[in-house]
Amino acid sequence: MSATLFTPLTLRGITFKNRIAVSPMCEYSSEDGFANDWHLVHLGSRAVGGAGLIISEAAAVSPEGRITPDDLGIWKAEHVPFLQRITAFIESQGSVAGIQLAHAGRKASHASPWKGGAEVPPAAGGWQTVAPSAVPFTTGETAPLALDAAGIGKVIADFRAAAVRSLEAGFKVIELHAAHGYLLHEFMSPLSNQRTDEYGGSFENRIRLLLEVTAATREVWPAEYPLLVRISATDWTEGGWTVEDSVALAAVLKTRGVDLIDCSTGGNVPAAQIPVGPGYQVPFAERVKKETGMPTGAVGLITTAQEAETIVSQGQADMVLLARELLRDPYFPLHAAHELGVDVQWPDQYLRAKPRLRQ
Ligand SMILES: Cc1cc2nc3c(=O)[nH]c(=O)nc-3n(C[C@H](O)[C@H](O)[C@H](O)COP(=O)(O)O)c2cc1C
Repeated sequence: MSATLFTPLTLRGITFKNRIAVSPMCEYSSEDGFANDWHLVHLGSRAVGGAGLIISEAAAVSPEGRITPDDLGIWKAEHVPFLQRITAFIESQGSVAGIQLAHAGRKASHASPWKGGAEVPPAAGGWQTVAPSAVPFTTGETAPLALDAAGIGKVIADFRAAAVRSLEAGFKVIELHAAHGYLLHEFMSPLSNQRTDEYGGSFENRIRLLLEVTAATREVWPAEYPLLVRISATDWTEGGWTVEDSVALAAVLKTRGVDLIDCSTGGNVPAAQIPVGPGYQVPFAERVKKETGMPTGAVGLITTAQEAETIVSQGQADMVLLARELLRDPYFPLHAAHELGVDVQWPDQYLRAKPRLRQ
């Protein structure tokens, strides 16, 4: 039998063996931004499990761009060697290694979830956060500093330098994190951007930073390697970023060297009402794809082989990204192939455990 989920997808010069990607997932397991054995085993297991694309967790482009002091980072040359080890292993399993480049903006300087998640003050190892405007994410938290022109220039330069290091580290895909209420999304949404300069107000002004970061990244990222952008396709809040904005943005990004839009939602305001359910974000990926012709990735509560297959076979998205299901089962792609009746390669070491296909 054949299943669209297990047909290859090519973006630029890179071919993914199937349409299943590991969605970026913060592990909060780094010291000073360094990857370590945890990241090798975590990402490596999912390569053994057969995902076509493995996107590392949000890697901070600067120390102040970390969500927590425990975040992965790629702001200095010393971060590169261990990442090289990870990308080499991922490739050895026939998967493609991607990295999500991120700046947490006003949501930075918090404790990791299992350390309580609260704001970390500078005296306790935290730092002053930055954002488009001096508006905190949660009432009562320290206000971020509104970035000035030099600060914006540094953000762009940090993304560019991180892209250069990503290449040195052996990644073949970059995903820019412009979702979930982090810095780039904060600029895009009127709910967090109250600027009156050329980075605030109109849609064109609010997407300016993302376009500048995209251009700086594309400038140093090889033409044969794909560039993805993750967006929150809606703020789910009156007066916020809308799906219409997402469609308009995707049409622009299509002309700026971006190859796929990864359509998540929400995260920019705590009070948003989100109708969470199986595949609840898929319609956004579908709409962006249908209205712009831009390839898309669908993410969010996709947990079964059949759901994933339906999304890609019906052309709602070109790729599915799975997060929590792949934490529960790193071998989900191998299991999904079996369930869909597709014969895929298992690692030699595991061949004796490969189930026979039902005919
Ligand atoms: C432990 C964990 C860490 C996450 N970290 C990130 C991240 O670094 N970057 C990101 O864009 N999304 C992150 N997310 C969101 C996921 O990538 C994904 O969009 C979300 O969990 C919905 O997919 P799922 O229903 O398959 O889990 C994280 C989710 C989880 C569960």
